[in-house]
Amino acid sequence: MFPRSGVSDTNTIEYDQTMPPPSRIPLKRKTATYTSKIMGQKQTVDTAPEDDLAVFVGREEDFKKSKRIRATVNDREIVIFYHNGQYHAMDLRCYHSGGPLHLGDIEEINGQSCIICPWHKYKITLTTGEGLYQGIDPHAPNRTPKWFSKGVKQRIHNVTVRNGGVYVTLSDLSQSCDSDHYASEKFEKAEAST
Ligand code: FES
Repeated sequence: MFPRSGVSDTNTIEYDQTMPPPSRIPLKRKTATYTSKIMGQKQTVDTAPEDDLAVFVGREEDFKKSKRIRATVNDREIVIFYHNGQYHAMDLRCYHSGGPLHLGDIEEINGQSCIICPWHKYKITLTTGEGLYQGIDPHAPNRTPKWFSKGVKQRIHNVTVRNGGVYVTLSDLSQSCDSDHYASEKFEKAEAST
């Protein structure tokens, strides 16, 4: 189980309502479950129309109150943040070691909104899923620490808003991402048995 941690309250994502859904994602079911921090209970709701892979994850009003919602989309655990008027969806478990990102704080780092993993404090940008780290360039004349990117580590998913409902479409799972390991059924079973 995830340890409890302080929760606080994201950045730029274009949620384009006309965006065609990725064609390679198999849709396994037509309902989604989500837990509202405000309501404190799981709810199962109907998803988007049958020809659409977007899955309902909550109402705009829920996000405006709670700032983040944990959801299961096509059997994948994700977290959706509402930060600075923008929605960001990503794999819930941290790419480093499976930490619970829905319990992390959001900080502005080098001009980017980042979720700070509560387990080992890794920093992940909400917009791109990049891992950020601070380092010193030994060749630079001025050796002041700077922020660098490790590249995309955490899988980011697409968010759309329609008629007051917030929907998530999983990103193209054929392209691997470090966080996939902790979103796997194998990992979930191993964690559930501990
Ligand atoms: Fe997230 Fe280690 S599990 S920083």
